[in-house]
Amino acid sequence: MSQSVRFEDKVVIITGAGGGLGRAHALLFAKQGAKVLVNDLGGSTQGEGANASAADRVVAEIRDAGGTAVANHDSVTDGDKLVQHAMDAFGRVDVVVNNAGILRDKTFHKMEDADWELVYRVHVEGAYKVTRAAWPHMREQNYGRVIFTASTSGIYGNFGQSNYGMAKLGLYGLTRTLALEGRKNNILVNAIAPTGGTRMTEGLIPPQVFEQLKPELVSPLVVYLASENCQDTSGLFEVGGGWMGKVRWERSLGVGFDPRAGFSPEDVAEHFQQICDFEGAAHPKDNIEALKEMMGNLQKYAL
Ligand SMILES: NC(=O)c1ccc[n+]([C@@H]2O[C@H](COP(=O)([O-])OP(=O)(O)OC[C@H]3O[C@@H](n4cnc5c(N)ncnc54)[C@H](O)[C@@H]3O)[C@@H](O)[C@H]2O)c1
Repeated sequence: MSQSVRFEDKVVIITGAGGGLGRAHALLFAKQGAKVLVNDLGGSTQGEGANASAADRVVAEIRDAGGTAVANHDSVTDGDKLVQHAMDAFGRVDVVVNNAGILRDKTFHKMEDADWELVYRVHVEGAYKVTRAAWPHMREQNYGRVIFTASTSGIYGNFGQSNYGMAKLGLYGLTRTLALEGRKNNILVNAIAPTGGTRMTEGLIPPQVFEQLKPELVSPLVVYLASENCQDTSGLFEVGGGWMGKVRWERSLGVGFDPRAGFSPEDVAEHFQQICDFEGAAHPKDNIEALKEMMGNLQKYAL
């Protein structure tokens, strides 16, 4: 029998939910019974300006459909205000979906400090501020779900997106540690790397494909990850166009040299192919597992 994924009495904050992916998430959360704080500053894709109407429109859509939502127009960099607003309106915070984002695409050669900093501030600092403010409430109630929005541009790199890629993979680094720290308080933390036809990707994706990559196709995974049904934490999921899959680190078996005897750059050169050979590769789940090979090498050559 299929399980129902419901959010009665649960309060969900979705940042950047005035359009695109965030709007689709907000509508689905509300449909599944959540009380939703629809946050959006309402600026441009480049992070300029502000406009309350984006969040207001989504709240009106939710209410018209019989759901419960309030609009919030703060910047995610004022995360404490956003969380306070949810507390004032609904009395608790169960889920944070960090989705707000901007682009300042430029090749690294042309990158200016302002482009680097603004992208960092909205994606990384913004997600930090909102999550940091929600964290004590989640700890106290012994329940929480946090979703970070990463990107394939962070995982694989993308020409002209050094600032964005840095920020997006940074959020996955944050995911991994918060998953460890949150576990004992039943706070589960996952990240998605979505693809959707939104204003952010308009003109970058061929129009026919753009039409098919509906934002709504990303939201069911986000809603599931944010639910009580989900017990997974620390995950990274690529999702879009109706498809979704999980990503993990893979590391070659590597090569161990004798640390006492020493080894040279020439030794590294000679073994480089083997160092990079993924045949029989390992998939360390945590730091301890990751360090096993290294410690094994020390032991192997210990006196
Ligand atoms: N669309 C894709 O294919 C894709 C791919 C990878 C990652 N993403 C990520 O998904 C998220 C949603 O992007 P989207 O494609 O829906 O684009 P979008 O531009 O439609 O949505 C981003 C929203 O964030 C809001 N926002 C920006 N700065 C804000 C701030 N300081 N405070 C509050 N709100 C702010 C914007 O007003 C906008 O409504 C972003 O984090 C983006 O980087 C999208």
